[in-house]
Amino acid sequence: MTGEPGGSGFSRRHLLFGGAAAAGAGAAAALGASAAIRAGVDAAGASGAGGAGGTASPTAVGEAILPFHGVHQAGVETPPQAHALFIALDLLPEVDAPALRRMLRVLSDDAARVTQGRPPLADTEPELAEVPARLTVTFGFGPGLVARAGAEAPSWLRPLPPFGIDRLDPRWNDGDLLLQIGADDAVTVSHAARMLLKDARSFATIRWTQRGFRRAAGSEPEGRTMRNLFGQLDGTVNPKPGTPDFDELVWSGGEPAWMAGGTSMVLRRIAMDLDGWDRVDRPGREASVGRKLASGAPLTGEREHDEPDFEALGPVGFPVIPDFSHLRRSRSEEPGERIYRRGYNYDEAPASASVSDAGLLFASFQADVDRQFVPIQRRLDELDLLNEWTTPVGSAVFAIPPGCAEGGYIGDTLV
Ligand code: HEM
Repeated sequence: MTGEPGGSGFSRRHLLFGGAAAAGAGAAAALGASAAIRAGVDAAGASGAGGAGGTASPTAVGEAILPFHGVHQAGVETPPQAHALFIALDLLPEVDAPALRRMLRVLSDDAARVTQGRPPLADTEPELAEVPARLTVTFGFGPGLVARAGAEAPSWLRPLPPFGIDRLDPRWNDGDLLLQIGADDAVTVSHAARMLLKDARSFATIRWTQRGFRRAAGSEPEGRTMRNLFGQLDGTVNPKPGTPDFDELVWSGGEPAWMAGGTSMVLRRIAMDLDGWDRVDRPGREASVGRKLASGAPLTGEREHDEPDFEALGPVGFPVIPDFSHLRRSRSEEPGERIYRRGYNYDEAPASASVSDAGLLFASFQADVDRQFVPIQRRLDELDLLNEWTTPVGSAVFAIPPGCAEGGYIGDTLV
């Protein structure tokens, strides 16, 4: 990475890290991953893509760096990057606890380097590491991996119960080790994945890969809710990272102890029938969710974040927000029964000219899958008009262990 154009000798990396980089090793960890991540993002937002400041570097998006080390793993609280790649691996039969430790050490080292814009050891294309673009690598453990470590698993770490709406294809389910790789640049994601997979191959084989996208960095103002491929604002009602509410809902208190500071990820591949959706008029589309398409406002409000009024009745006495709407059905009465959604669109080559293969990589983080995610999915399974056009085709649950300090590795509380 080079200094700022103009040769002030002050690098963009320095700017993003602020005092942390200058203060040397351990400062980022001391700051706490969450705070440091937000600091990096705020700095990138203020001076970079979409920022109002006139000093933006033309390559600010590529240069933005997020810390790897910290109390929590990056890639959960991190404002979602434009590109995400989810890779599930299956451990080879001979991988025991010491081998697991070796693997996690090597992969953590790769991730620690590449996320900071430095090539991992033995990188044969080191130039590709020069554009970190807010790269994060988040590791998740399936039940198989925890069993190999000989450790106790969280009670919720198993496949979800079956739901009536599910049409799961085994090629998108489960896995021992998850790599969630996110960045604002697709080449960066590809290179990071290649580096990690090269080092993983003597320990594990690829089970599935799923690729998702959002709007390109800088194409919309910072913090704008994403639109899914139905055109809906998706993610309006979500716990806000960095708040006590978020911490309570998302981070594990330590059950079992090695999970303290970790969380869980549910990844559902949900096919969206875009051709069927084409046949629904705008009022029908809005009724199915209970929100307006243009603004994302509830049908009883004007602005996106207005509180919905579920009691309001229309001219002929029916609720303005229908009882069968996704908004009504997904909302919990119980405050602890909420999740943090951080999904991505997917759009693969269709099998034939008239059919699209698109949908949502629904990713949610919550401290306890059984207590928070399952009741919501149960309600949606019983009744949700959106089910007409959406079909879960893949499902996986992972324990996201806490972050690690410099010199440590992801999973060092486990094995
Ligand atoms: C392809 C499938 C899905 C689509 C297109 C979709 C779309 C949406 C949209 C447009 C909203 C309203 C705006 C917002 O608050 O984000 C919403 C809200 C929500 N969805 Fe989904 N969703 C899908 C699947 C799911 C699943 C599988 C779950 C959980 C099991 C879920 C849980 C929620 C929750 C909790 C809310 C917020 C409810 C509230 O206002 O309190 N959604 N979804």
